[in-house]
Amino acid sequence: MVDMSREQRKLDHIRYALELGDGPLTNGLENVHFLHNCLPELAPADIDITTTLSGIKLSVPFLVNAITGGTDNVTEINRKLAQTAAAAGAAIAVGSQYGAVKTQTNYRSFEIVRETYPEGVVFANISALATPAEAQQAVDMLSANALQIHLNPAQELVMPEGDRDFKGLLANMRRILEHVSVPVIVKETGCGMAAEQIRRLLALGFTCFDVGGAGGTNFPAIEAKRFAATGTDLAGWGLATAPSLIEAAAVCGKNDTIVASGGLRDGLASAKALALGADAVGMSGNILRCIMEDGVEVAQQELLEIITDLRLLMLLTGSRDLKALRKTPLYFTGALREFLLCRGHDPIRLSAVRRN
Ligand code: FNR
Repeated sequence: MVDMSREQRKLDHIRYALELGDGPLTNGLENVHFLHNCLPELAPADIDITTTLSGIKLSVPFLVNAITGGTDNVTEINRKLAQTAAAAGAAIAVGSQYGAVKTQTNYRSFEIVRETYPEGVVFANISALATPAEAQQAVDMLSANALQIHLNPAQELVMPEGDRDFKGLLANMRRILEHVSVPVIVKETGCGMAAEQIRRLLALGFTCFDVGGAGGTNFPAIEAKRFAATGTDLAGWGLATAPSLIEAAAVCGKNDTIVASGGLRDGLASAKALALGADAVGMSGNILRCIMEDGVEVAQQELLEIITDLRLLMLLTGSRDLKALRKTPLYFTGALREFLLCRGHDPIRLSAVRRN
């Protein structure tokens, strides 16, 4: 059975993500500042940007984050997203496979990612409502290296047909975690995460979090555009990426994994996110835009330039590897500093080190 409304929704998301762009909130990283190091005592060849994500080794700390799949019309987009990730050695996540496993249709639009990037680190993606068996099917469809479970309550509330009852999700996610054969990443989709939720997830055994902060692609705004009649406006809702990362770093241990995402668009933002404690940086909206507006070669070039800039910034902060980058001095200004003070994060301590 082909679900026309699901297919249309996938296309609308792409269309409105491009039309609306990022914001209106910022990712908060404009209030995070490096100190220039005029004596770095490093050469470019010394810089090591390898990372580990839930035990999976990555040669670069980047992830082309979940975007699409589930209709034949996006198979070509997924091929190009995989080609972009492959050119840089980045990981890639597919869009939600929930509809596909429910209806047993449109597998092709997802399988193309593994076919295009056979040696890649590929993440499956499923709703927190999926059964454990459906979650494992999503993994098997891609021979995925890990599974993302996405959380998006604000988006659901803007959709007239969206979910309203979010009770029982934690218990269901725990069942998925216990059942599937690969590491699980809990992921927001642009409204961020605070320490309280990450602590609850840690207590249940989850160890990998993609904070998906506000400041980039804005799903409440995208759904409001799709359903203008509802009048629900949550476009300004959400915790931005920088404060979400600080919250995550405060509660995660050294064996847990933090992915930064939400409005990260260049090498400087990526370097700041990694300095705040992230193990990797995820990007969706900007990569999608490059592919749709300029083509796959430009998208590949863009990602490679971001990686080059990250290396340069590591040199300019005297950071030989990502662990050292977490200890390079930072300072905080504006609304982010207010946030730190209100939430009990010591800006002076954080200036020196953000994560164990
Ligand atoms: C997304 N995102 C997303 N996330 C997810 O977990 N499952 C999904 O199916 C989708 N679908 C989707 C479609 C489109 C068109 C976009 C642009 C994004 C959310 C994405 O993975 C990411 O969390 C947010 O977009 C924030 O990152 P950026 O776009 O600001 O880099």
